[in-house]
Amino acid sequence: MTMIQAVIRPEKEQEVIDSLEKSGIYGYTRQSVFGRGRQRGIQVGPVRYEEMAKVWLMIVAEDEKSDRVIDAIKVAATTGNPGDGKIFVSRLAEARTIRK
Ligand SMILES: Nc1ncnc2c1ncn2[C@@H]1O[C@H](COP(=O)(O)OP(=O)(O)OP(=O)(O)O)[C@@H](O)[C@H]1O
Ligand SMILES: [Mg+2]
Repeated sequence: MTMIQAVIRPEKEQEVIDSLEKSGIYGYTRQSVFGRGRQRGIQVGPVRYEEMAKVWLMIVAEDEKSDRVIDAIKVAATTGNPGDGKIFVSRLAEARTIRK
């Protein structure tokens, strides 16, 4: 199993979820978070914002589906501007469903 954690723009959240669903990926966990990347926040005129509001999405998928998940996120989350986000991929030992 593969765990994909993505940090995306909040305004791209629904588009990303729709894109995942179109790719046959239905399960996810999401959270509203704050963070910063290489630019260490953003400068707007005289005001420096040290952190930006982002959405964190966590998806666990079979290894064969991980590229599909990553592509679906990238396609929907991209604006081409700094701050589009990050995708972190890691191997997961296992995923259990509580019901069975
Ligand atoms: N190295 C990191 N570790 C953990 N989280 C990160 C890291 N870099 C970025 N993030 C998270 O991702 C969010 C978006 O990062 P961002 O897109 O600005 O990355 P970047 O590397 O600066 O790319 P870009 O140059 O396109 O802005 C950050 O607000 C933060 O929450
Ligand atoms: Mg950045």
